[in-house]
Amino acid sequence: MLIFERNSELKIYLDKIRAESRQIGFVPTMGALHAGHISLINESKKQELFTVCSIFVNPTQFNDKKDLENYPRTPEKDIEMLRQSGCDALFMPNAEEIYPKEDTRVFNFGELDTLLEGALRPGHFNGVAKVVSILFDKIKPNVAFFGSKDYQQVMVIKALVKQSNLPVKIVACPIIREADGLAMSSRNMRLTKEEREAAKLIPLLLNESKLLFKARKPISEIKGFIASKLAQKPTYKLDYFEICDPQDLHILTDKNEVKQGIALIACFVGNIRLIDNLLLD
Ligand code: PAJ
Repeated sequence: MLIFERNSELKIYLDKIRAESRQIGFVPTMGALHAGHISLINESKKQELFTVCSIFVNPTQFNDKKDLENYPRTPEKDIEMLRQSGCDALFMPNAEEIYPKEDTRVFNFGELDTLLEGALRPGHFNGVAKVVSILFDKIKPNVAFFGSKDYQQVMVIKALVKQSNLPVKIVACPIIREADGLAMSSRNMRLTKEEREAAKLIPLLLNESKLLFKARKPISEIKGFIASKLAQKPTYKLDYFEICDPQDLHILTDKNEVKQGIALIACFVGNIRLIDNLLLD
């Protein structure tokens, strides 16, 4: 696997790959890799694409400075995992390389940027859109792979591609989970043993909400049930639990007659904020 820190060197190399008529698959990450990230690399390899991964802890998407400082960084382990996965090239730029001058762009994603994560993390998706558009511009992938764990992020990226007319196909990949159902996340490694044990309640509650949705229980009742379950646990603080339209993330209420929904949850377990979601049908 080739490792690039400079955009100029990466560009020369990728131009050669394109000249050989090979297609490029791209997996952007912030490192501290786990099997969830590697599943995206595997999907790109499965599609026989020249696979580029990027590791860049993007400062513009963190609205909490402490969260940025505490973000786990495990570069040696990441490189080893990527080598093992058969990833073809890794781009590990520094902040200067990505933001040589301040990026003041303001994107408009409408409701997508004001609901759920957008409401609780102002400016977060604008920062994601900045870095992803810069990375797309540098790498010019044919296909880019994102995890459905960050469901709202995938929708924002699809909106970015549409409104900026970018020639890249976005593929949303399934959530990879630990044996007990907890969605894999770089943040899980910051949970204490007790918090990690407590965190398995999140996928259990999502599964319960799916059963209740199938049984056609009112959405208000399902939301009340989840909130009351978490209120009993002192380690938990619920940010939101919503059932939304999977197409546009519009928050559903009892008035909506729908066959499909998506349950999205964000909560603190101790000091660590976790998100997860599950399709309901
Ligand atoms: P990061 O959190 O490192 O995630 C990189 C990619 O891995 C994202 O597309 C994310 O959805 C996916 N991913 C994380 N956990 C997963 C899991 N358990 N199963 C499947 N996929 C999973 O998301 C970001 O970085 C950043 O916002 C980024 C897009 C790189 C822009 O900075």
